[in-house]
Amino acid sequence: MSDHRENHEPQAPRDHRAEAATLDASDPLAGVRDRFVLDDTVYLDGNSLGALPRSVPDKVADVVARQWGEMRIRSWTEGGWWEAPERIGDRIAPLIGAAPGRVVVSDSTSVNVFKAVIAGVRMAGPGCTEILVDATTFPTDGYIARSAARMTGLAVRPVEPARIADEVTERTALALVNHVDYRTGRLHDLPGITAALHSAGALAVWDLCHSAGALPVGLDAHGVDLAVGCTYKYLNGGPGSPAYLYIRESLQERFDSPLPGWNSHVEPFGMISRYEPADGITRGRVGTPDILSLLALDAALDAWDGVTVEAVRTKSLALSDFFLDSVAAYVPPGEVRSVTPYDHARRGSQVSLECAGAGEVMAELIRRGVVGDFREPDVLRFGLTPLYTSFGDVERAARVLGEVLRERSAEDGAGAAGSGEAGGPAGSGPAAGPGGSGSAAGADGPTSGGPAA
Ligand SMILES: Cc1ncc(COP(=O)(O)O)c(C=O)c1O
Repeated sequence: MSDHRENHEPQAPRDHRAEAATLDASDPLAGVRDRFVLDDTVYLDGNSLGALPRSVPDKVADVVARQWGEMRIRSWTEGGWWEAPERIGDRIAPLIGAAPGRVVVSDSTSVNVFKAVIAGVRMAGPGCTEILVDATTFPTDGYIARSAARMTGLAVRPVEPARIADEVTERTALALVNHVDYRTGRLHDLPGITAALHSAGALAVWDLCHSAGALPVGLDAHGVDLAVGCTYKYLNGGPGSPAYLYIRESLQERFDSPLPGWNSHVEPFGMISRYEPADGITRGRVGTPDILSLLALDAALDAWDGVTVEAVRTKSLALSDFFLDSVAAYVPPGEVRSVTPYDHARRGSQVSLECAGAGEVMAELIRRGVVGDFREPDVLRFGLTPLYTSFGDVERAARVLGEVLRERSAEDGAGAAGSGEAGGPAGSGPAAGPGGSGSAAGADGPTSGGPAA
């Protein structure tokens, strides 16, 4: 595939449809798409809600009809319900680079952020006075970090992820950072930021919502202390499926949960009034697990059989390159600007395009069978899930986006006296489009200010 940034020479027009067919024909993950329930819609919203894996409906039906309906209470022991949070954590572990016994599935991401931040502060030295929070974080992390700070008497300081290495001090207890920015799709330097935090004596707490299942994370290899993530995006666990908590092995003994529910007790059925935590990752549990959602997630993870995260990453980058190429080919110059970095080392598994009137544009795309989403104020988000997204999907999405924006320009042009230009509201020349070098530079700067951005 050519690099669109160097494509300055006049060339024969490319046939993106034919290229997509060739890329799909040689895609080693192409067959995995059949493991999902999909239709003629181009579904590029797996970074919000993953598609339904075919393995889920029968499994959930069995959980309801047989395990609950017939076995009833016996399923907690004979059906393995009680151990499911740790067992399913062990299934997620290889996808995020963790050994068994370091991941537990439980609660929502927000609740796990709370556990991780308070437990992290409790592990920090007595001289620590502050928590650093990714200044561009998904809002819930910022809200919870501020509450955790109030409860522990620390201050919160928002810092851009790229500045954490410079801003961390001996007074920093921990930094809470999003691995991939939900809005721009920018991938942050997990190994480098973690190492910088450690060298100042602080803990690294990562939110993996937009990276788990989309790219290698390497939690154990990079010495991450604590991590959280959801399972309903690239892990396809279903709406509201439970989240997970990772605790580095050597910290587990010191993990003092702020939510020490009975499921985390060393003897949960002892009904003992004095709290004594269980050993290991079980300390991350709180109350009775949400079995229906948890076992739907268990079934969803079957979609990963025989698939490596490395293969997923290779395809993800090829998909986003091809999507950006196709957008550059189909969309009139100046209509959109990529805020997703072009540099592979800094790109997650989505492409975000700034576009005037993005809400209306996305509504029109959805009407025409291309489902992405829209984030305030002006970002079109297209999530790429390599398990089921095809090159044909992204080519069609770019083509329909081009049609919608050309029609809009034509309507605007017809309405404006004397205007024969096709240029849209976002303005001027090729440099503003995804193929322009100006947009590549612009893509790297975070575009929002604080945790609640
Ligand atoms: C980065 C990030 N963190 C946290 C959340 C919210 O998680 P939950 O609703 O499971 O608490 C999201 C949801 O999209 C997210 O993208």
